[in-house]
Amino acid sequence: MTRTLLCVLGAVALSGAANAAPEYVGVKVCTKCHEAQGESWAGTSHAKALDSLKPNVKAEEKKKARLDPAKDYTKDKDCVGCHSTGFGLAGGHAVGKEPGGAAALGTVGCESCHGPGGVYRDQHSKAEKKLKQTSEATPRKTLVADGQNFDYEKACATCHLNFKGSPHKAAKAPFTPFTPDVDAKYKFEFGKAVKAQALHEHYKLKGVFTGDPLPAVRAEFQKNAKEIPE
Ligand code: HEC
Ligand code: HEC
Ligand code: HEC
Ligand code: HEC
Repeated sequence: MTRTLLCVLGAVALSGAANAAPEYVGVKVCTKCHEAQGESWAGTSHAKALDSLKPNVKAEEKKKARLDPAKDYTKDKDCVGCHSTGFGLAGGHAVGKEPGGAAALGTVGCESCHGPGGVYRDQHSKAEKKLKQTSEATPRKTLVADGQNFDYEKACATCHLNFKGSPHKAAKAPFTPFTPDVDAKYKFEFGKAVKAQALHEHYKLKGVFTGDPLPAVRAEFQKNAKEIPE
């Protein structure tokens, strides 16, 4: 009896968390604390992804993919979703929103890979304080409950493998026009791509968070990670 009640309460708590979907807050909230990753990310093609939708930018590539190079695609719903952050979702980019703006949502930003930060951003600094005060690390799984994503392969797939006939089973329109059929260079392999400059440089973590889900790539990136510049 008590056990059943606990289960029911647990289920209610879980569905409650799922209903209150965290909002997107934009790059500039994250880079207040993660300046090094922010600077490195700013030089990547992800940070300039919306520019590719402007008229006469990447004209040759567009022609090859049977797109109109003279057309302005920056407000086209069939394009913007993968060239911005949280398109159409709470707090995320929307047609008519200033793409650069204070949040810089007109980019493939931090939250495109790490998840919408409306709730977990505060948990990061709280957990750091806890480590300083009590030497206790915080279980990483609490971040997942707050909307942080550690399944990077899945995040990449929603944009890079979203086309008809792709190995990504959940693929649904609008699809990317840049498929391996257009040019073999558009073939996406997670293991290779995750190491590319297109992400950001990796910096040493202090171990504020601990336990699962520890991303598979974490150990290798941390081994070669740089010290955060003072
Ligand atoms: C108020 C400061 C602050 C803000 C804002 C903040 N973080 Fe953090 N973040 C931290 C601290 C502190 C850590 C722990 C770092 C460590 O272990 O060295 C952390 C850890 C992380 C980690 C690694 C977590 C792990 O698995 O150990 C990621 C990824 C991350 N932050 C991304 C983000 C993103 C994306 C945003 C914006 C939505 C963000 N952070 C906002 C302070 C912040
Ligand atoms: C919100 C959609 C989105 C997500 C999520 C995303 N990407 Fe991208 N990615 C893009 C777009 C769009 C471009 C092209 C940017 C441009 O040039 O306009 C790109 C470009 C790249 C490039 C550069 C390709 C080149 O030839 O220069 C690499 C590498 C890459 N992404 C890897 C990844 C990896 C790895 C992940 C997951 C960890 C990921 N991306 C997640 C949309 C996304
Ligand atoms: C399902 C996600 C998705 C949609 C929808 C999408 N793109 Fe992209 N786009 C990508 C990804 C991922 C890349 C990076 C491909 C790579 O370099 O491997 C990209 C790259 C590009 C590039 C750069 C190609 C290059 O070789 O540098 C242009 C230009 C572009 N997209 C325009 C568009 C236009 C125009 C539309 C709408 C008609 C559109 N995209 C819709 C995901 C998408
Ligand atoms: C295209 C996907 C992608 C984007 C965009 C991205 N990251 Fe990451 N990030 C990763 C991956 C993959 C890792 C390595 C796996 C891990 O350690 O969790 C990582 C690791 C991190 C870490 C852990 C320490 C480190 O340096 O490796 C922090 C902190 C972080 N990112 C913050 C940010 C911030 C802030 C932004 C935006 C300015 C950002 N990330 C943009 C994919 C991305």
